[in-house]
Amino acid sequence: MCSHGATISSTTRSNGWSSASASSCLNDGPWSPSLVPPGLSGEVASGEVVSGEVVSPEAGLGDFAKARELMAERARVERGSVFELPRATWDLGSMFFVAESMSEDPVEFEAATTSFVRSLRSGAPFAAAFMEQSSGYDVAGVSFPATPVGVEEITACLDSVAADIRVRRVEMRPKPLRPGYTGMVVAIGRAR
Ligand SMILES: C[S@@+](CC[C@H](N)C(=O)[O-])C[C@H]1O[C@@H](n2cnc3c(N)ncnc32)[C@H](O)[C@@H]1O
Repeated sequence: MCSHGATISSTTRSNGWSSASASSCLNDGPWSPSLVPPGLSGEVASGEVVSGEVVSPEAGLGDFAKARELMAERARVERGSVFELPRATWDLGSMFFVAESMSEDPVEFEAATTSFVRSLRSGAPFAAAFMEQSSGYDVAGVSFPATPVGVEEITACLDSVAADIRVRRVEMRPKPLRPGYTGMVVAIGRAR
């Protein structure tokens, strides 16, 4: 396990960009009504109303350049460990390929995933992606460990800290890009 490099994004202001990018991951049209009502506007945990348009470069929707500009303007990047996140702090969260891709220990996978969700205020929506059944990965000749997880383990882990959970497997067609994993899993929900 290493102790830096968390990928957490959050907002407390009018946004829509994060919601939109998460919905395109799920590849099933607009964001789930259970998370953000039709038209992509709704109240986040802090009581503020978020709204926005769907931005998807793949689908040719929205002004992606503008969305990137707004993201750069509004986001602040900080180095930190997913294990040391403050509790109940943010209104929106995303975590991509972190909890399962830093150690071979399922206990650490669970601790990282629950720490991520617990860093959100109660009711805050999140999106997270996981490599499915990963046996580790190589970066420039250096091997990195992973915990092999699937829909079952991810759902079980999120159940203890989240509500409105939807966990979906993303099949790699025609096959995974490299050996050592079987697909990807995307999960959305709300912090309890
Ligand atoms: C497979 S990479 C994913 C990177 C990026 N999120 C992406 O989707 O391309 C796994 C990341 O987990 C980070 N990581 C490892 N241990 C961590 C920790 N304790 N807290 C936060 N991030 C950690 C690593 O630095 C690495 O960037």
